[in-house]
Amino acid sequence: MTLPLAVCVSGRGSNLGAIIDAIAAGRLDARITLVVSSRAGAPALERASRASVPTAVHAVTNATRADAQRAMARAIVASGARLVVLAGYDRILTDGFWDELGAIPVINIHPSLLPAFGGLNGMRVHEAVLRSGARESGATVHRAQPGPVDDGEILVQRRVAVLPGDDAEALAARVLAEEHLALVEAVGRLARQAAV
Ligand code: GRF
Repeated sequence: MTLPLAVCVSGRGSNLGAIIDAIAAGRLDARITLVVSSRAGAPALERASRASVPTAVHAVTNATRADAQRAMARAIVASGARLVVLAGYDRILTDGFWDELGAIPVINIHPSLLPAFGGLNGMRVHEAVLRSGARESGATVHRAQPGPVDDGEILVQRRVAVLPGDDAEALAARVLAEEHLALVEAVGRLARQAAV
């Protein structure tokens, strides 16, 4: 069965693009029912539109987060999604989101080898890896649930070496390439499980 999924984004949308490309190439038996963004004008929305994927903006401010995320979850359920992918969604999810979503599973992509360097985001992850002197980093796809962020069962990890002379940008670029592979692999695995 082709797995219907929703993708939550806030920015660039390269992980969304990896899913779109894998579906288009026949490497992933999935269908994106909805792309939801926390920010109007996120480049990810443009990426979705180019692939004729439906989009919605549920803009989040500190004052509106609970209502916006409740509405976002309702839209996801109404779209028929059976999986939610957090692909660079930049806000912590409130209880109302989880209540509305019910039993639909949620996965998240994080640019480190969790549990190491969880709870950080963006370049801060890679800066912390470099400061720590770690010899490797990587990408993790894990299940997300109410409670602590960057927690939950790890589904896929892909490793990269930290190279002498790396700065945060160089390391981020090397990790990002692995994120794309890890995310497609994880969604593919869940799609195959949903099919049996
Ligand atoms: C990625 O590094 C992802 O791991 C993190 O946010 C970033 C999103 O990048 N959660 P993009 O929008 O998919 O290009």
